Amino acid sequence: MALNYISAAEAASLIKHGYNIGLSGFTPAGTAKAVTAELAKIAEAEHAKGNPFQIGIFTGASTGDSCDGVLSRVKAIRYRAPYTTNSDFRKAVNNGEIAYNDIHLSQMAQEVRYGFMGKVNVAIIEACEVTPDGKIYLTAAGGIAPTVCRLADQIIVELNAAHSKNAMGLHDVYEPLDPPYRREIPIYKPSDRIGLPYIQVDPKKIIGVVETNWPDEARSFAAADPLTDKIGQNVADFLAADMKRGIIPPTFLPLQSGVGNIANAVLGALGRDKTIPPFEMYTEVIQNSVIGLIREGRVKFGSACSLTVTNDCLEGIYQDMDFFRDKLVLRPSEISNSPEVVRRLGIISINTAIEADIYGNVNSTHIGGTKMMNGIGGSGDFTRNAYISIFTCPSVAKEGKISAIVPMVSHMDHTEHDVNIIITEQGVADLRGKSPKERAQAIIENCVHPDYKNILWDYLKLTDGKSQTPHALRAALAMHAELAQSGDMKNVDWAQYK
Ligand code: COA
Repeated sequence: MALNYISAAEAASLIKHGYNIGLSGFTPAGTAKAVTAELAKIAEAEHAKGNPFQIGIFTGASTGDSCDGVLSRVKAIRYRAPYTTNSDFRKAVNNGEIAYNDIHLSQMAQEVRYGFMGKVNVAIIEACEVTPDGKIYLTAAGGIAPTVCRLADQIIVELNAAHSKNAMGLHDVYEPLDPPYRREIPIYKPSDRIGLPYIQVDPKKIIGVVETNWPDEARSFAAADPLTDKIGQNVADFLAADMKRGIIPPTFLPLQSGVGNIANAVLGALGRDKTIPPFEMYTEVIQNSVIGLIREGRVKFGSACSLTVTNDCLEGIYQDMDFFRDKLVLRPSEISNSPEVVRRLGIISINTAIEADIYGNVNSTHIGGTKMMNGIGGSGDFTRNAYISIFTCPSVAKEGKISAIVPMVSHMDHTEHDVNIIITEQGVADLRGKSPKERAQAIIENCVHPDYKNILWDYLKLTDGKSQTPHALRAALAMHAELAQSGDMKNVDWAQYK
């Protein structure tokens, strides 16, 4: 069956008001771009005529400006799940304009399959190759592409020349069966391949192929600075010490690391510490730093959902595919983030917190308890199931007016039951094997900025000091309330709560 080549505008015109679209991609990597950019123009024109035009978006994780950005600005998104980082989308969500369902990334594909979010009308899939018999070869990410291809009534393929055909073979496409028929996911080491290098679809469902040449919209991260370097060094030192005392086996364990500057600094420090042997990654996102460490032989293998790297780094991988082919695999997000596999492999997870409380509960998603930042991403998938779960963050934010360690988090994503270690530039709080009262001592002593230490010790004096988890409930969010009122948590006055 011959493929039907159409323009991005023609493809977008096939998407109707009220549709749910399913997208390839995970972080901006591998996300379809051209059709959603045209869809925004249609939405704008329809709104100008007084007609409603809004869609639902199901995807792997964040997308780029050509999707979340343009569609939010023209108010064309009714519903979206999961994680996103786009600032215009964030504004729209916090203005109440979009229904945003922030779920664990490992759960996205299965919740779409279970029908929790409604039907997938059209899948838009970025590919580096598509064949007339329905083989779709993905680009820089797995995401939920296999699931939305299977469930969608119709498929549009964006054949993107910005991705080399050398990407063919990078992917391991596997979709589990749903209960009660699900079996174990047979991954026993990060490099195991269990599926196919392409998605097989019914070619009759491919209603159009859109040829594009549109590079990925990955963000580049700021260079490491003394603060992130110190946090990275604290993580590396902590892991090296745990290995020395036999808690981590001498072969080391596979690592998961989040996105952003701190993650890059942590990996840089781990790469430099030669007491840590070359290690593997079983993670959701591979950033530039990991590619450098693979080239240096410090990382032996990288299993991930996406190559969230700068375009020159991606180009370098495609050019050196003979070197990288047996050192990288890209998986769908329900496999890269599978709780079952994370627990089996004994992953060491390292993620970033917005704030943590003195008992070890962590907020990854909300500013001031109410405003969405990005979302939980895969942090919950890994943290809850890790061999050792670590959270990092600077001890203060906004020129010291905010303490990242507070009496009670204003929103909770990761509970005290799941968080093992908290690391700031001040030091390391090892919460393993400790009761809540012991954890509070470790966190305040080791992680809190000097400006806030006495404030938090004084908070504890307001409590009975004896309960399982001592709190003075009226004062528990007083530092947040003080920030909202005077702009500086340091001004909190405990006297009124005595
Ligand atoms: N209260 C209010 N604002 C805070 C804050 C706090 N306690 N802590 C940080 N902020 C602000 C920062 O000042 C910064 O503001 P700005 O954008 O105006 O400069 C912003 O939040 C982001 O902080 P930054 O230090 O730049 O952090 P980051 O880019 O490393 O992102 C998270 C941190 C937590 C938002 C990010 O890691 C995230 O979205 N995590 C959740 C998902 C996840 O863990 N994914 C990985 C799984 S593999």
